[in-house]
Amino acid sequence: MLIHDVDFAQMYRDHMRQSDRAAKTASSWDARAKELKGKPLQSEYASQFVAHMDLTDAHTLLDVGCGTGTIGITVAPHLQQVYGLDYSAEMLARMQEHAVEAGLTTVATLNKSWYDDWSDVPVCDIVVASRSSLVADMQDALQKMTSKATKRCYMTHLVDGHFGDAAIADVLGKQKRGLPDYIYIVNILFSMGFHPRIDYLCFPGRLAGTKSVEEFIGKVEWTFGELTTQQVNALQEWYAEDDERAQQGGGDTRWAMISWDVDKVGR
Ligand SMILES: C[S@@+](CC[C@H](N)C(=O)[O-])C[C@H]1O[C@@H](n2cnc3c(N)ncnc32)[C@H](O)[C@@H]1O
Repeated sequence: MLIHDVDFAQMYRDHMRQSDRAAKTASSWDARAKELKGKPLQSEYASQFVAHMDLTDAHTLLDVGCGTGTIGITVAPHLQQVYGLDYSAEMLARMQEHAVEAGLTTVATLNKSWYDDWSDVPVCDIVVASRSSLVADMQDALQKMTSKATKRCYMTHLVDGHFGDAAIADVLGKQKRGLPDYIYIVNILFSMGFHPRIDYLCFPGRLAGTKSVEEFIGKVEWTFGELTTQQVNALQEWYAEDDERAQQGGGDTRWAMISWDVDKVGR
């Protein structure tokens, strides 16, 4: 078998279907967005992401799954127009609040999903999807992003299929089926005729730095879905056993930052 015989798009879809991830709805992200009201944007992640971007000759940007505007708001001062697209209306409200705080009048929002019709989504110089690419069909998402970009696309996707929480998945008896790894994306882009670049961004995991076992268990539930009493007991034991390990929350989160040119030169 040769690499061209492998259908990475189908493999990704199969892997996504088989992963243990609790499905998230727009309303679950709305609830999360309410908790984020008044909180500053995550600057360390945003500054590392932006440091890997090339804004040369770019005037417009579409931020897909923009959340509170982590990337869109950060780069907006350098651009003429930024569009934030998200299926959570509350996330978009947070993005607009950040725009007002920053005195920006060039940020517009689009309340849409990856799965909606994008015919009225504006074409932009740059399209980004930051930590928002856990879609059922990656090839479809990549085609949608590329169809809306005139210059470059940027996407961050998990390395290893875990949010730095493989050890916790183990405690819960869920270690086997992580999410699809970034490497599918590289191969799907290659099969679409692109030559993607890859960088890696590393941060403390989303379960790190909790102040109490209750906060820790709440964060584990957000990641893994509803827990049984047995799982809660196992987590309480794990948390109490080793303070330093509990503070690390299981491990770092590593993001692959994948970028590709959509003009002829990048193909
Ligand atoms: C982890 S947050 C990332 C937010 C932001 N891009 C960042 O890096 O901070 C994921 C975002 O993707 C959005 N999202 C998840 N699934 C989506 C979908 N099917 N269509 C549009 N947005 C989606 C969520 O509402 C949420 O705002």
